[in-house]
Amino acid sequence: MKHSRSIAGSTVKKPVSSDQQGKMAGLAVVVMAAGLGKRMRSKQAKVLHPVAGQAMVLYSVGLGLHVAGERVAVVVGHQADLVRQVIARATSGKSGSAPVAIVEQREQLGTGHAVLQSRPVFAVGKRGAPSNYLILNGDTPLLQETTVRELLRVHEAERATVTVLTAVLADASGYGRVVRTNSAEGGVSRIVEDRDANAEERVIREINVGTYVVDGEFLFRALEKLDPSNAQGEYYLTDIIRLAERAGHRVAAVVLDNPDEGLGVNTRRQLAEAEQVVRKQIRDRWLDAGVTMIDPASTWIDAAVTIGKDTIVHPNVMLEGSTVIGEDCVLRSFIRLTDCIVGNGVEILDHCVFTDSHIEDDAHLGPFVHLRPGVVVRKKAKVGNFVEMKKTDLGEGSKANHLSYLGDAKIGKGVNIGAGTITCNYDGLHKFQTVIGDGVFLGSDTQLIAPVTVGARAIIAAGTTVTEDVPADALVIGRVPQVNRAGWAARRRALLADGGALPPGSKLTSLKADKVSSKSSQKNSKSTKGRTR
Ligand code: UD1
Ligand code: CA
Repeated sequence: MKHSRSIAGSTVKKPVSSDQQGKMAGLAVVVMAAGLGKRMRSKQAKVLHPVAGQAMVLYSVGLGLHVAGERVAVVVGHQADLVRQVIARATSGKSGSAPVAIVEQREQLGTGHAVLQSRPVFAVGKRGAPSNYLILNGDTPLLQETTVRELLRVHEAERATVTVLTAVLADASGYGRVVRTNSAEGGVSRIVEDRDANAEERVIREINVGTYVVDGEFLFRALEKLDPSNAQGEYYLTDIIRLAERAGHRVAAVVLDNPDEGLGVNTRRQLAEAEQVVRKQIRDRWLDAGVTMIDPASTWIDAAVTIGKDTIVHPNVMLEGSTVIGEDCVLRSFIRLTDCIVGNGVEILDHCVFTDSHIEDDAHLGPFVHLRPGVVVRKKAKVGNFVEMKKTDLGEGSKANHLSYLGDAKIGKGVNIGAGTITCNYDGLHKFQTVIGDGVFLGSDTQLIAPVTVGARAIIAAGTTVTEDVPADALVIGRVPQVNRAGWAARRRALLADGGALPPGSKLTSLKADKVSSKSSQKNSKSTKGRTR
């Protein structure tokens, strides 16, 4: 049994070991997320800025939950309530993840001060004090779980008091530099912040990523000793390394193979860089899982989206939020789906925008369909050109193929929604429901003045305005009777042949006149003669 060293040199601690889900026993996690992030030049707290549709802080929180299970604390400060909500929303209800503890850092006095705020969360309870802490910056969304596990492994193997993750960058400016000891092992002696570094230290290209594993006995005692006499007047977490080294404790380091992973997002440029890297990681994951992308570079998939096997994604598709796509779907170009659930074998043609809607198996939608929140398109249903739907349930096998607005409607199975059908759901104050039974046929240009119910298998004649409930199996026809006037159009054409206007009061304008009066026709011919052409 391996034991890591304690600063007192007397206590024997529990080893770091993983259970079946890969959670490390005795490990606690602290995520620092209280800063505003001045260099972003934003009103929004930095850690709330999304990367691939997910707030930056959630990358660190997710990683923490994966490796430690429930003992995760997040230190919040700027826009604390918003950050708290975002974390609560993302972690609630997910199996195996207990709520994350949120602690507030009222004044942002530095990363060391931030971690110190989490102390009460881990104050000895039933489970005892954590044997080690994994500390993560809230602005490193590219960090991978395998890297963190390697850091934990090295920490344990080297019986280190502090283990720090580093990267060697071509341009290290802005980062804390890793100063190595002169010893043969080349251990880490301290980290010097960019703003505090002298000329010699500035040329060091090995940087501190902001990911640490620290011995549980050592951490808070060291934090209490921090001194803010530095360029920023802050309590630097990084100074615990100097303290450990001076006290003769082992400080270990893991150098990243892929320095991209260590990117800390301080500016909008770095945010854009992180976005590119995460987008590619996500695409590669779905390509590996059996999804075809005709043009990966123009395919935008948010972090939380899932896609089934053998689905084909054409160029310029955006899948956002918590969207779930089934297997064997075809997604054509220029479509944006946000928080939607799409079953198997669904085809979506070009130029569609869907939000918070549910599409069942084998449905067919597009081109040019707009689904606003609360739509359910049942199995094998079809929605086509220029149809807008909102809070509407379109039954199995039903069709709404052309130019319709369907809002607040419950539509049964096998219904035909004729071209140009409109549910008139709004009276200027309130919204009302339209209910259409199974097998109903709505002719083209039907208007349904809600609230209204059309019984099963009824037929509504084209151009009808339905104002009252319709019984099952009825025919409804509601339109102005048609009048045909023989020869009317030809006579009008003759009158207007020279491009002049009809004389005022001309009887031709009246539907009742069967003939044009001879008087007016004479007048007209005279005036025509008098005109030069
Ligand atoms: C920090 C490290 C630096 C490292 C870099 C890696 C320190 C002193 N420096 O610098 O060595 O190279 O990260 O990206 O730790 N935060 C708080 N409370 C505070 C201050 C910061 O919670 O009082 C949080 C921020 O919200 C952020 C994280 O800590 O998520 C890091 O803070 P930031 O100001 O970005 O530190 P860097 O200057 O990048
Ligand atoms: Ca940073």
